[in-house]
Amino acid sequence: MTVIRSVIHGCGSYLPPRLVTNEELAKTVDTTDEWIQSRTGIRQRHIAADGELASTLALAAAKKALAQAGVAAETDLDLIVLATTTPDETFPATATTVQAALGMTGGAAFDVQAVCSGFVYALTVADSLLQTGQARTALVIGSEVFSRILDWDDRGTCVLFGDGAGAVVLRAEESAGLISDRGVLATKLHSDGRMHDALYVDGGPGATGTVGHVRMQGREVFRHAVVNMAQVVEEVIAAAGVTLDDVDWLVPHQANKRILDSTAKKLGIDPGKVVVTVDLHANTSAASVPLALDVAVQDGRIKRGDLVLMEAMGGGFTWGACLVRW
Ligand code: UT7
Repeated sequence: MTVIRSVIHGCGSYLPPRLVTNEELAKTVDTTDEWIQSRTGIRQRHIAADGELASTLALAAAKKALAQAGVAAETDLDLIVLATTTPDETFPATATTVQAALGMTGGAAFDVQAVCSGFVYALTVADSLLQTGQARTALVIGSEVFSRILDWDDRGTCVLFGDGAGAVVLRAEESAGLISDRGVLATKLHSDGRMHDALYVDGGPGATGTVGHVRMQGREVFRHAVVNMAQVVEEVIAAAGVTLDDVDWLVPHQANKRILDSTAKKLGIDPGKVVVTVDLHANTSAASVPLALDVAVQDGRIKRGDLVLMEAMGGGFTWGACLVRW
């Protein structure tokens, strides 16, 4: 008996050119490079210029992913799922702006909102649509201009985030359904709306008519992040019938090096298997997992046949994980 597997054929990422180091930030915010590095591992972040939107970054990452996959958007692509918290406009979905820019006229394009878990959510949704035959070739993007919703007077949050985008191209392929076969093997999503006040934006089209700014209880988020991400990793590997020893690469949401280290320790996974890029681009919310993924693919760490585990947690709370045979 055969099953449908969503096989990743290409990935790409994009960071806006403007680089802001901790030292530069410390000139306008009451902070230090030492504090930021020791508490978070972050050294720098990229900030989008005026006129650079989530769709601009998404398009740049998408073109690289499509080129690597050898997929022509105009003729081959029939689904775009774009994860963002910072869309170009309240509506239409930023995914449809990317769709038009790519010259894709058929299929469907829509946004997913799960904040920092956005990419894991978008990949899960795309995988489900491919498995049920609704689409054959999907582009999954995480793109954020998170700098637009930061309160630059709040040192507890503004030093933590950056802008960027990452994308993957998936194709529905017939498979014998073996663990060794390529494609998405298992996904698991969670949310807990009771945790709203720990991480939210104090605005929105309904509540205030403004976009608002990020508000966060850092320690509370930190504590839940480690517990939730370790738990969902265990769930997804159990669902696929593998163990953590079988996993070649853990690609976590890049929020804070201390969270990555604590989660790896709790899971008992070799720190050498954890892809870490938070030092280079800070927390880019929905873009952070595909940004880290792309770095590890392009530098040759992630190779065909490797077992890759992605996990993330964000406001809501939302959290989830995806296990993929590369
Ligand atoms: O994708 C999910 C998104 N969010 C996260 O993942 C964030 C999770 N939380 C964290 O990463 C950490 O909690 C933070 C990095 C946000 C904060 O680290 P912390 O070790 O939990 O520090 P804290 O919030 O307890 O603050 C310690 C001190 C405070 O001063 P006092 O009250 O001890 O005098 C803060 O005012 O550090 C101060 N502080 C800063 N000092 C210099 C807070 N932000 C800064 C700053 N520079 N930027």
